[in-house]
Amino acid sequence: MGEYKIQNLITRNFRNLHPVNINFSERINCIFGDNGNGKTNILEAIYFLINKKSFRKNNAFPQILSIDSEKSQIIISALFSKNNSEKISVSVKMECEENLWSINGKVKKTDEEIGVVFVNPFDSYNFYNQSSFRRNWFDANISQLNTEYKNGLKRYQKALKFRNILLAKRPNKLVEQIAAIDVEIGILSEMICKKRVDFIKDLNLHLNDIFKKIFAEEYKIELSLNSKFMSLSSNQITKKMGENLSKELKNGRTISGIHLDDYIILFNQMNSYEYCSLGQQKMSYLGLLFAYIELFRYKYGSYPIVLIDDISGELDRYRWSRFIKFLEKGKFQVLITTANENFKDELDKIIGVNKIFIKSGQVCN
Ligand SMILES: Nc1ncnc2c1ncn2[C@@H]1O[C@H](COP(=O)(O)OP(=O)(O)O)[C@@H](O)[C@H]1O
Ligand SMILES: [Mg+2]
Repeated sequence: MGEYKIQNLITRNFRNLHPVNINFSERINCIFGDNGNGKTNILEAIYFLINKKSFRKNNAFPQILSIDSEKSQIIISALFSKNNSEKISVSVKMECEENLWSINGKVKKTDEEIGVVFVNPFDSYNFYNQSSFRRNWFDANISQLNTEYKNGLKRYQKALKFRNILLAKRPNKLVEQIAAIDVEIGILSEMICKKRVDFIKDLNLHLNDIFKKIFAEEYKIELSLNSKFMSLSSNQITKKMGENLSKELKNGRTISGIHLDDYIILFNQMNSYEYCSLGQQKMSYLGLLFAYIELFRYKYGSYPIVLIDDISGELDRYRWSRFIKFLEKGKFQVLITTANENFKDELDKIIGVNKIFIKSGQVCN
């Protein structure tokens, strides 16, 4: 993975965005506009191009196709610079049934591994309130840093799905087949658990420093894994998986496994899920995210592109201005949106900031 920066974006028929060329600078880009004008749509288009999926729930083709379009086709295209030398254009042509990807004008599946980190206003809330969100957060971020984890997790999910199908159908050779799957699940679970623990250890190394760097406050934030399978060998995990079989036969599905692991965040030694204010949650979530970005840089020698969608809610002016100063000091490319008039001026103060104003899907100056 090299260091990628997005230079421009052109979309056609993507949601409410007009087909204009939006240019980005290598450092801080602020996207301003009132609610519902297309700020998040810009970030969504970029995210889609890089990750081949959206962060929004309603993202089926008919939903994202502009209601004003004459043709049933969406195009998203962007130019990236790689390691400050190469230029790479990535585009996707979407039609109802298929998405066609091109790199530098040649039709092929993108094999460019472009690092991107995205944060939106609900992420910290979801992170603190939904264990499934936390699991996905960790799985996606560990996967971005570790291919073995990514592939192992895919295999685990496949094995789990098969296990559940068997439990629901109860074929004759059920017990033998489950036992065979549990051997694989044991091996994969051991690896996945170890990698989660390592990742948390690495995050913890950066967490308090980053938090202090952003918000100039001393808090002790500590992450830990909450898993029944921690430090067990693959054989022990296989055995543990088998212990629930009679109950699972009744339920028709698997009731335990590392897919149900959770994560705990201690904030000054208190459980942050119960104890933190919304503002503190947002702050510690941002600390977590930027600690992750440090790990990303450590692993790949370069930063990801950082997309920040209107996160000013719940942050007071002091925290917001600290956060902006932190971004200003950084070395990564940032695209940050806001509709918050009160906080615009802090963004305006950044030297050399690229300002993009968006109104009804159109870029204005
Ligand atoms: N398929 C579509 N066609 C046209 N407009 C759309 C489509 N999907 C969403 N929109 C419009 O996009 C706007 C939302 O854009 P968004 O980027 O979320 O705004 P914000 O600037 O608040 O982030 C809404 O006005 C919505 O009606
Ligand atoms: Mg928005």
